[in-house]
Amino acid sequence: MTQSAQIGDGTRAVRAGLPEALKNEPTLPGPVFAAHFHLPGDVSGPYTYGRDDNPTWTHLERAIGELEAPGQEDVDTLVFASGMAAISAVLFSQLKAGDVVVLPSDGYQVFPLVREQLTAFGIEVRTAPTGGDAQLDVLDGAKLLWIETPSNPGLDVCDVRRLAEAAHACGALVAVDNTLATPLGQRPLELGADFSVASGTKQLTGHGDILLGYVTCRDAELTASVRGWRKIVGAIPGPMEAWLAHRSLATLQLRAERQNANALALALALRDRDDIEGLRYPGLPDDPSHKIAAQQMRRFGCVVSFTLPTRARAERFMKALTLVDDATSFGGVRSTAERRRRWGGDDVSEGFIRFSAGAEDPDDLVADVLRALDEAAV
Ligand SMILES: Cc1ncc(COP(=O)(O)O)c(C=O)c1O
Repeated sequence: MTQSAQIGDGTRAVRAGLPEALKNEPTLPGPVFAAHFHLPGDVSGPYTYGRDDNPTWTHLERAIGELEAPGQEDVDTLVFASGMAAISAVLFSQLKAGDVVVLPSDGYQVFPLVREQLTAFGIEVRTAPTGGDAQLDVLDGAKLLWIETPSNPGLDVCDVRRLAEAAHACGALVAVDNTLATPLGQRPLELGADFSVASGTKQLTGHGDILLGYVTCRDAELTASVRGWRKIVGAIPGPMEAWLAHRSLATLQLRAERQNANALALALALRDRDDIEGLRYPGLPDDPSHKIAAQQMRRFGCVVSFTLPTRARAERFMKALTLVDDATSFGGVRSTAERRRRWGGDDVSEGFIRFSAGAEDPDDLVADVLRALDEAAV
């Protein structure tokens, strides 16, 4: 059932992608486990083989499309096995040898590997940092501009509308990684992007129990090429994951409200402490990202970052937390944090902490963090 563009985010989230109400049928049909579908005679109809399509994906794809681009009927969404599967589908379906792609130099830590693979395929990769719209300077001759805003883990923000206009003027397509913001926090297609791409593993599904990715695309031809990539690579979600993701979307607005409010409460509580530096949260009015974030984001996400003076102190802090799991990823209802440098990939200092606020009671969460910081100091 198509939803009006005017309804609120909570209403949209609980109803997103639901099929027409049919007597004696469930509100959200259960997962369809099928490798193949009955197909007498000629090949026709939406469901033929399980690598190409599945009714459980269809419901989820409609739901995500309604959240990414409310009221826009011409937009299509494709779901994938993970965020990286979705990212790779866009990059490798759109680029060929001799093309130029512009990537963020401070994006998700798998990007250096992606860069190596693109280069091995004869694609020229240029990089520039997210902050200050630095990608503008390297757009000339590019086929695709890749934006990640807010960036992970630095939480810098760039002006999507400005970059998209400049990229289109150069003839480049624009993809935005919308993982951290979620479609309730930011709508890249409305800001001018051709693709909104995300890991649904994070706040979109929010329980830390499934991997998922998706691409929302404004153009039928572009969608067809990404769909073709999904078919040949086969990086598809299982029906159970797709159904769980759809079920989780119903609480996205509730989770985002609570988690993002917790992130802000934490950032405010950390602001005046002299044992941390480099506190970042795009929702803090004095954050370097806030001005542009406030123009293009409707919610500022659940991730806060800050730096402790040494690796040892950061490790003591992590151990002292009792309500926060030491784990990678972000966006789950249970708070997680990690000393990000342990992976070796990101350009951050040894004491850098990426903190993902969960849905705990704000006073409990803030008290746990402040106590752990005090304990780590001695
Ligand atoms: C911004 C961003 N994009 C993409 C990904 C990849 O998502 P997945 O782990 O679902 O493949 C991540 C994972 O952390 C991420 O943080």
